[in-house]
Amino acid sequence: MMQNYKDVLAEILIDAGTLQNRVKELGEQISKDYADDDLLLICILRGGVPFLVDLSRHITTPHMLDFMAVSSYGVGKRESSGSARVALDLQTDIRNKHVLLVEDIVDSGHTIHAVLQMLETRQPKSLKVCTLLDKPDRREANVPIDYLGFSIPNKFVFGYGLDLDEYYRNLPFVGVVDLEKYKPVR
Ligand code: IMP
Ligand code: MG
Repeated sequence: MMQNYKDVLAEILIDAGTLQNRVKELGEQISKDYADDDLLLICILRGGVPFLVDLSRHITTPHMLDFMAVSSYGVGKRESSGSARVALDLQTDIRNKHVLLVEDIVDSGHTIHAVLQMLETRQPKSLKVCTLLDKPDRREANVPIDYLGFSIPNKFVFGYGLDLDEYYRNLPFVGVVDLEKYKPVR
């Protein structure tokens, strides 16, 4: 059984109110930037879901949603390597569309880098990246971030889409895991 999150929470890094305010600002900015364009938001499953849902509600211009899942091959569970496999592809043909990728976090950057490379070949009209969180200290692949919620230090975080071994994506805040107290289930 997964531990109660309160027992593994070292600190709340970004509280719910601060998150919601920032997401609203990003939605307003995106609404302005795409005022004259049809927009397709692509959510990277599963971590991007809460962010996508809240962000989309603050985008006042007409837009569509689609989803994709990628799994990155890595050495450890929390690492990601250079390659990503598409586990679930888009339903939408993105050719000639304005596309905005919505992610929970850019860490090493390999995931988004690989997704961008793959989507470029489908010739969208534009392709940009919106991420809630950025861990710049961990970057290995160069990724252009067009919309950023928060830049955070190199700590393992969970909540608001980010998982602790698949749990606690539902929490309304972003918290830091206390790795001394956390005991993985498997
Ligand atoms: P990247 O390919 O290294 O940029 O990895 C990005 C993915 O790793 C994200 O989409 C998350 O799923 C996961 N990830 C990276 N850092 C964290 C974290 O601190 N908590 C939870 N998941 C993370
Ligand atoms: Mg993710």
